[in-house]
Amino acid sequence: EKGGFEYFMLKEIHEQPKAYRDTMLGRIDEQGEKVILPELKLTPDQIMNIRNIQIIGCGTAYHAGLVGRNVIETLVRIPVETDVASEYRYRSPIVSPDTLVIVVSQSGETADTLAALREAKANGAHVLAITNVVGSSIARDADDVIATLAGPEIAVASTKAYTSQLIAFYLLGLYLAEVRGTQTPEAVKEMIQAMQALPEQLDMMLEQSESIKAYAEQISHHEHLFFIGRGLDFAVAQEGSLKLKEISYIHSEAYPAGELKHGTLALIEDGTPVIALVTQESVLEKTVSNIKEVSARGADIMVITYEEHAATLLKSVDQVFVIPKTLPLLSPALAVVSLQLLSYYASLALGNDVDKPRNLAKSVTVE
Ligand code: BG6
Repeated sequence: EKGGFEYFMLKEIHEQPKAYRDTMLGRIDEQGEKVILPELKLTPDQIMNIRNIQIIGCGTAYHAGLVGRNVIETLVRIPVETDVASEYRYRSPIVSPDTLVIVVSQSGETADTLAALREAKANGAHVLAITNVVGSSIARDADDVIATLAGPEIAVASTKAYTSQLIAFYLLGLYLAEVRGTQTPEAVKEMIQAMQALPEQLDMMLEQSESIKAYAEQISHHEHLFFIGRGLDFAVAQEGSLKLKEISYIHSEAYPAGELKHGTLALIEDGTPVIALVTQESVLEKTVSNIKEVSARGADIMVITYEEHAATLLKSVDQVFVIPKTLPLLSPALAVVSLQLLSYYASLALGNDVDKPRNLAKSVTVE
């Protein structure tokens, strides 16, 4: 059942190239020029009228929503908010019939997310669910469903469900952009081609997964560490930090790279591990100055970046882990996998039950 892998989590990490392919299957036209989402009931007229979008989820699904916000705002220029489901309900969210609410849930059974969905519907919003379980309560209650086709996920720490949710957001973002005409056909085609290259790029990364093992063993001796990044790199940093906490029980904090100096820098000491994500090239120089700030305080820095920046970055950091080159919006779909592997190997080094972390359940059906 674990297909030769020691834990379901590692098996599921390795199933991601297939999950990407399956989630894209039938949703891109034969020429590779357009996204088609035949399952959507949302009409082009409704899409033209969308005034704001709210994305809701818990845990890892919420983190997918943080990426989704950036993707949709960039591609479609509609204002997007992302909320944790248990907060959304009680903050009197501003919803109108022109609000599209997107709920994200692997299981489709999370009570907080379901309650938020019902709240949004009661307020008149059109609700679209991105879920991995088509017969779930969330899928049934939503007006629309985009199914992620990751297959069953057993390990409590979500991996392939999260990355398939990212693929769903890329598809949805492109589709909304096509309908609203916010991207040129060339830009859409370029992004589709880059998406179609992701599974193979991920396969390449997974072949080298052992290279992150030694670093994971090194950090497993530490009590706390930081993840930093800007923009989408910060969104991935938050997911990486959650993953590490969930299964290794090492405390970590994800911080926007530019915000460290406004407080948290005080916690950086000699030898504190800092994992910096540097894939967003428009802010690369800015992140590099933040890396220098932590380096000056003695941090032990590991950077995740593209090959072309590795040599320069190695002048100011201790280690570099290279990921294949892709478009800025798509980098989370590759970068996060190195963080999944990092937390997996850290958990393994500590002798934890990787698939069943203490105090956590795969799906939480109480509020
Ligand atoms: C938590 C799980 O309770 O629920 C997390 O421990 C998960 O791993 C979160 O991300 C949300 O679950 P779902 O099924 O709604 O995506």
